[in-house]
Amino acid sequence: MELVLGLESTCDETGVALVRGRELIADVVASSMDEHARFGGIIPEVASRAHLEAFVPTVEEALARAGCSLDDVDAIAVAAGPGLVGSLTVGVAAAKALSLALDRPLYGVNHVIGHAAVDELVHGAFPDRTMALVVSGGHSSLLLVDDIATRVTELGHTLDDAAGEAFDKVGRLLGLPYPGGPHVDRLAREGNPTAIRFPRALTLPKDRERHAYDFSFSGLKTAVARWVEAAEDSGRPIPVADVAASFAAAVADVLVSKTLDACERHEVDTLVIGGGFSANSQLRELALARGAERGIEVRIPPLKYCTDNGAMIAALGAAVVARGVAPSALTIGVNSSMP
Ligand code: KG4
Ligand code: ZN
Repeated sequence: MELVLGLESTCDETGVALVRGRELIADVVASSMDEHARFGGIIPEVASRAHLEAFVPTVEEALARAGCSLDDVDAIAVAAGPGLVGSLTVGVAAAKALSLALDRPLYGVNHVIGHAAVDELVHGAFPDRTMALVVSGGHSSLLLVDDIATRVTELGHTLDDAAGEAFDKVGRLLGLPYPGGPHVDRLAREGNPTAIRFPRALTLPKDRERHAYDFSFSGLKTAVARWVEAAEDSGRPIPVADVAASFAAAVADVLVSKTLDACERHEVDTLVIGGGFSANSQLRELALARGAERGIEVRIPPLKYCTDNGAMIAALGAAVVARGVAPSALTIGVNSSMP
């Protein structure tokens, strides 16, 4: 089976991995997050430059860990989108250079699909039909997977903020450090999730037709902001844990309800949750509990495979190679908003 080198550089992580079939041989990630934290958000220019510096050492370390050399690599897979255009450009240029220098085929693949594909390295091959919920700071997408290499249909996505992004914004609102997601999660565990009834966007009967599987979290974030402002104006102390818990409950409820409805409608009984937001306790608990009630197996890879990494790209690359898909041309570009 071919040894596939996977390169990931869509945002702030430089990821390099080697995969053979569904076996992960090496996986190395370098992150520039520390450089962004002091700005309270990702600075694209800083991220691109960090990829440029990290690429060669990261590839070298992955090869060293695998105990092989570039000559052993049979194919190169790279995330060609979606993501930050400057970051993507560095990875795709590096992949092209390797493809040309080694005379090996190049495969430009989709980063969001990679978040689902990586689960095959952990829990084995997907059944004929799998539902994948990919949630992070950059994406919230619901994918129907008939064949991870060739037939993935996006049933819905967020119309505004991603789930992690909404958590980060609420974190800022509550005065928590960046990125706020994990802090809001922790605080939420101490609060009452039914204390405040925050809105569940796009869940009304009228949304069933056009937005059955789309998400929207920006109105929810505004509702939290308004609630906190009103509490401040009234001079009452703000019950931050209850605010966090009620907000987190609204996000989890919408994600899980829509995802499980989609599973039922498409007769799917396996759900994969990927992306860095899958670390969220409220989402995990609700998905596992409601999934069990409905007889749906919920697969969540360990967190290190949920945040951006090279293994997800190598996994998808290996699936694409195994399917005999034609390689990409050396002229491929990047697609920052790849569907
Ligand atoms: O996939 P990821 O590491 O990075 C990208 O978005 O590319 O996802 C990180 C996002 C951030 O918004 C972070 O705040 C959020 O996921 N996050 C969480 C938790 N852990 C990470 N949000 C809520 N609860 C968590 N436990
Ligand atoms: Zn991602």
